[in-house]
Amino acid sequence: MSIPTLSPLFFSTSEDLLHHIKSLQIPRSVYICDNQTQEHCFAPFFSPAQQEVLVVHHGDEHKSFEYLEWICKQLLLQSCGKETVLMNLGGGMVTDLGGFAAAVYKRGLSYMNIPTTLIGMADAAYGGKTAINCAGVKNSVGVFHPPSQVLIWDGFLQTLPEDHLRSGWAEILKMLLLFDAKLFHECTDTLTNLNNPGRFLRKALELKERVVQQDPYEQHYRKMLNYGHSIGHAIESCSGYHMSHGQAICLGMQWENHISVKCGLMTAERCRYINGRLQLLFPEVKHQWELHSLMSALKNDKKNQRGALQMTLLRDVGMAEIAISVEESIVKEVCIQMGASGE
Ligand code: GLY
Repeated sequence: MSIPTLSPLFFSTSEDLLHHIKSLQIPRSVYICDNQTQEHCFAPFFSPAQQEVLVVHHGDEHKSFEYLEWICKQLLLQSCGKETVLMNLGGGMVTDLGGFAAAVYKRGLSYMNIPTTLIGMADAAYGGKTAINCAGVKNSVGVFHPPSQVLIWDGFLQTLPEDHLRSGWAEILKMLLLFDAKLFHECTDTLTNLNNPGRFLRKALELKERVVQQDPYEQHYRKMLNYGHSIGHAIESCSGYHMSHGQAICLGMQWENHISVKCGLMTAERCRYINGRLQLLFPEVKHQWELHSLMSALKNDKKNQRGALQMTLLRDVGMAEIAISVEESIVKEVCIQMGASGE
């Protein structure tokens, strides 16, 4: 399997993006959209009458075996061969599902990701992770299959509601928290122009690219990027995917910082400071959690080793440690402290 080498490409206008795609002279392309990106991104920009397109229903709960099967059947019905390139136009749900379909259809097609959400641009579209959810566990079935190109035009962000944009900023803040203390402080000071991520997005991607190049298959260093995601995925699954990925990750980072304090890695003072900054992104959280649902989602986390919970935890801004074994009792204590109820 090839290691992703091509950096994401940025375009300043939709015309430049389309011109680039045309210049690739792809023999046959099939666009994968969801109903929202079909309406707001595909129809207005991509000459829909001249393109082949498959439209899935939006929402992470549809990142499923059913839709994977549906896409594969449609590709077969339309006699798509190995020369077909899937063009995934959408957020993380579309790029994860479309990427997985590309990985398994006829044992592998090439594909490109054209992210339309900030979270897709900042994280999901680049790095080769593809997946669907299974039995309520987020991204539990998938493979590494890197896109041949990731094409970014931030004009798509103009169509997004504010909560979507905030969701994307959570992944940008995660990257800055992990690797760039100065920019993290600056970014959280100036979180107003939500649909103009500019240099913060580019920096987050540059940082991600550096990590992915070093460890594309997440054997060690790439586990850094899972900071906030152990608890975050559990929160997201337990909300029935009604909470946005970014909001769940933003909470995940805060809860994991409390775990880090209890594990003796982070000081309580640094936890207060970092969590205070993260709360600027989602000041209002209205949700109730069941402890036992959170714990059962956590037990299926891909990072666990021989059944023991393992997390990436932060000591301070710019100082994370991977594969920290965490006692279940500490996780339960923090979940209760953060408002989970039950046993
Ligand atoms: N979303 C984290 C990663 O790509 O590794």
